[in-house]
Amino acid sequence: MPKPKKVPKKKNSPKEKKDKKTLLQSVKGMHDILPADQPWWEKINKAIKEVVDFYNFSKIETPILEAVEIFERGVGDATDIVEKQMYTLRTRGGDKLALRPEATAGIVRSYFQHGLSRLGQPVKLYYLGPMFRHEQPQAGRYRQFYQLGFEVLGGEDDPVYDAQVILITHRLAEELKIKNLAVQLNSIGCKNCRNTHRKKLTEYYKKNANKICGDCRRRLSINPLRLLDCKNEKCQPIKNQAPTTIDFLCQSCRSHFRAVLEYLDELNFPYSINTSLVRGLDYYNKTVFELFADGGNTALGGGGRYDYLGEMLGARKNSLPAVGSALGVERLIEVMKTQGLSSIARSKARVFLIQIGKPAKKKAFSLIEEFYKAGVKVIESLGKESLKSQLKLADKEGVDIALILGQREVFEESIIIRDMRSGAQETVPLTKIIETVKKKLK
Ligand code: HAM
Repeated sequence: MPKPKKVPKKKNSPKEKKDKKTLLQSVKGMHDILPADQPWWEKINKAIKEVVDFYNFSKIETPILEAVEIFERGVGDATDIVEKQMYTLRTRGGDKLALRPEATAGIVRSYFQHGLSRLGQPVKLYYLGPMFRHEQPQAGRYRQFYQLGFEVLGGEDDPVYDAQVILITHRLAEELKIKNLAVQLNSIGCKNCRNTHRKKLTEYYKKNANKICGDCRRRLSINPLRLLDCKNEKCQPIKNQAPTTIDFLCQSCRSHFRAVLEYLDELNFPYSINTSLVRGLDYYNKTVFELFADGGNTALGGGGRYDYLGEMLGARKNSLPAVGSALGVERLIEVMKTQGLSSIARSKARVFLIQIGKPAKKKAFSLIEEFYKAGVKVIESLGKESLKSQLKLADKEGVDIALILGQREVFEESIIIRDMRSGAQETVPLTKIIETVKKKLK
């Protein structure tokens, strides 16, 4: 029998060898949400609850992984998001999947897949979850970030819903007490009016082809509207003089846009029209908008109408008028911090339980459970031993009462109550402790 061939052991590259010794870090552009950050997230969750309860939005959660095609067809394969920023993978079975760069396309897939069209229309949905884009990380730009989104799906393409989505996007930031908010609006029209605009835009860019970046020269033949989304410095002067969509709106798109503005005017809602706003996703038509704070140019949120997305994902033509928006949660938190706003303060415990010695530690361990059942919040530091260090901690926590259990107290089945403000102490029977503490806290 021939000897089995020896498979040479795979050697680690010098980099891998080095990496084995270094302390591992999170992936670039992806961050942990640490305990200290949680009060900000609690504040966001509270604001979401206020807004969605009032405006009657129901929660939806869709998978983080979707078929790549959902985004290629929905967001558009000539967009930066799909072309350059998507995390994709192939499964062992050969399916091509992507970590969702946004949630709207997946929600529309879910709407059709689960017959949500059979519910009363429109269906108002909201979501909160992580999205993934392989962008260059910088302030307010991550590779994993959270979006809070609102979607109004089905019914008529009624401009009142465009106005309501704009309003609640703004309301959410307002609920968080964010100041100096500004909404920019535009209309990019429908397929019909876009044809005329596209012709003019292409002519204009062809004349200026030597003054634009390589990406734009490519966009010129694949998807000219994307020219208006270019962030390259070199292209800005050309972009600023380009024909705007708003000048080419058909009658129906013009009156839709006017109606949106009238609804907003009805509330004296502040907005400005930005004719160069086109958004970075292909599924939009008619109204598009973005929300900013403090005159910055990094959007806190954005959205618009997307009546063609259903059709782009394979549904019947004109079967899903829809409008929605999403806000970047990390960006909301960053603005709250720079504006000096506060997060949610944790409910403070007013009682600290101190134990000295092994028997006391055991007793304290079970006493905490009795306090839990009685609904009285108690903090402890069971890992600490000395009276001094525990008293110091109780003082730092700012509690009203410290309970002290030592060897003697355990033996006598009693406990010391110390008033942390006056320093006065009294000893009470253990059986009476919960009742006494409750009385004192009143
Ligand atoms: P978007 O403008 O791509 O729209 O993203 C919405 C918001 O997500 C942005 O305004 C920003 O606050 C946040 N965001 C985007 N990229 C990043 C990033 N790399 N790091 C941190 N935050 C980021 C959409 O995704 C659409 N699906 C919105 C929508 C919903 N349209 C209709 N319905």
